[in-house]
Amino acid sequence: MKISVIGTGYVGLVTGTCLAEVGNDVLCLDLDESKIRILRQGGIPIHEPGLLEMVQRNVDAGRLHFTTSIEESVAFGTIQFIAVGTPPDEDGSADLQYVAAAARNIAKHMTDYKVVVDKSTVPVGTADKVKSALQEELARRGVDTEFAVVSNPEFLKEGAAVEDFMRPDRVVVGAEDERAITLMRELYAPFNRNHDRLVVMDIKSAELTKYAANCMLATRISFMNELANLADRLGADIEQVRLGIGSDPRIGYQFLYPGCGYGGSCFPKDVQALIRTADSIGMPLKVLKAVEDANETQKRILLEKIKGRFGADLKGMHFALWGLAFKPNTDDMRAASSRVVIEGLWQMGATVTAYDPVAMNESRRIFGDDPRLAYADSPMHALEGADALVIVTEWKEFRAPDFDQIKATLKTPVIFDGRNLYQPSQVRAHGLEYYAIGRR
Ligand SMILES: NC(=O)c1ccc[n+]([C@@H]2O[C@H](COP(=O)([O-])OP(=O)(O)OC[C@H]3O[C@@H](n4cnc5c(N)ncnc54)[C@H](O)[C@@H]3O)[C@@H](O)[C@H]2O)c1
Repeated sequence: MKISVIGTGYVGLVTGTCLAEVGNDVLCLDLDESKIRILRQGGIPIHEPGLLEMVQRNVDAGRLHFTTSIEESVAFGTIQFIAVGTPPDEDGSADLQYVAAAARNIAKHMTDYKVVVDKSTVPVGTADKVKSALQEELARRGVDTEFAVVSNPEFLKEGAAVEDFMRPDRVVVGAEDERAITLMRELYAPFNRNHDRLVVMDIKSAELTKYAANCMLATRISFMNELANLADRLGADIEQVRLGIGSDPRIGYQFLYPGCGYGGSCFPKDVQALIRTADSIGMPLKVLKAVEDANETQKRILLEKIKGRFGADLKGMHFALWGLAFKPNTDDMRAASSRVVIEGLWQMGATVTAYDPVAMNESRRIFGDDPRLAYADSPMHALEGADALVIVTEWKEFRAPDFDQIKATLKTPVIFDGRNLYQPSQVRAHGLEYYAIGRR
């Protein structure tokens, strides 16, 4: 099949590449010339495990191409994926300007039947808006070309995106047009060999399914975070509680890890967007508002613990920070807890040296050359001259550090661990003070 992917970011590039991997001809469009330049030069503009090799393999095989030309992209694919960003607007609702622009661009140039697939996470009713935008533009041109709009939300996780796309738990397709449903079945058939993973439903339900999934996961995290804070106060150990409840198959072990708040490009904005959708029709989602509120508080939990230990005036103090990315295996720092911690430490007068295996360039892009933030080339180098260590991302390489070296290097032997990486008794046995989230 010939497929165009509009928006070559985390989702668009993974989608396009994985569809090429199973034999399709794919053209990825982005208006950001620098991204397309990097791709044409054989690199990739993001960090995503396994993606570079797959991109190179499919480019070499002649199945994967990149362009900045809208005309070329519209002419290319029968299936036109829209995978542009839907960032939060000022009031938290999803900003649909990029989706609308992509839809209009398709209609401006299309000359034959197209299936326009919303892969971006978009509020319920967006497919109708995309349809109207297409109809308006086609009417303006005075042409009557047929098209269908399909909702096909993406559930991949950054850091495991290639694996998730190649072996999906499910593929949700919201569609009403039989011809489009047939095409989507064909498109996803190579990912369905083990058993049929396609869940076909009406468009609005598909749009809501994506928000429901992310909001459910965010809810589990905020719930566990609040319980962890409670355990802290009560003298219980949240890790024991996690094991005690996770063994119940109705609950399960996943997404029960407390920490210093969820971040990233999806959970915060999707939680906010669903809250705004519900508010806008006078049906406030009380649980979800609490989830968001709890997360905002949780992103500051390490700052509170630092304040509790060192006081609110940290002038002259210096902190080592392990982890900048919002989670391991990605360089994405959108809404990352590290940003709240860094800015909070600055506000209290402290400076920071950070280490992250892949997100330091992204951090430089965000914070510029601020002299209050330095970077180290290894976790241990970040500790030099630091008063204490703060951990915000659970990268594997932080899991078994040399605690004796940490103790010998830090000015005060204190670790604030926002991801509960260690056994408190083990850390303390090395003579370190250890503050984690809900651990005894
Ligand atoms: N990142 C994730 O893990 C993830 C997972 C599932 C769903 N999603 C959703 O997928 C969507 C895309 O997310 P992302 O993280 O890939 O975003 P991203 O910011 O990484 O990529 C979006 C890309 O679209 C490009 N773009 C914007 N307008 C364009 C236009 N009119 N024509 C061509 N290109 C255009 C931008 O330049 C950018 O490169 C969002 O709605 C997001 O919520 C993201």
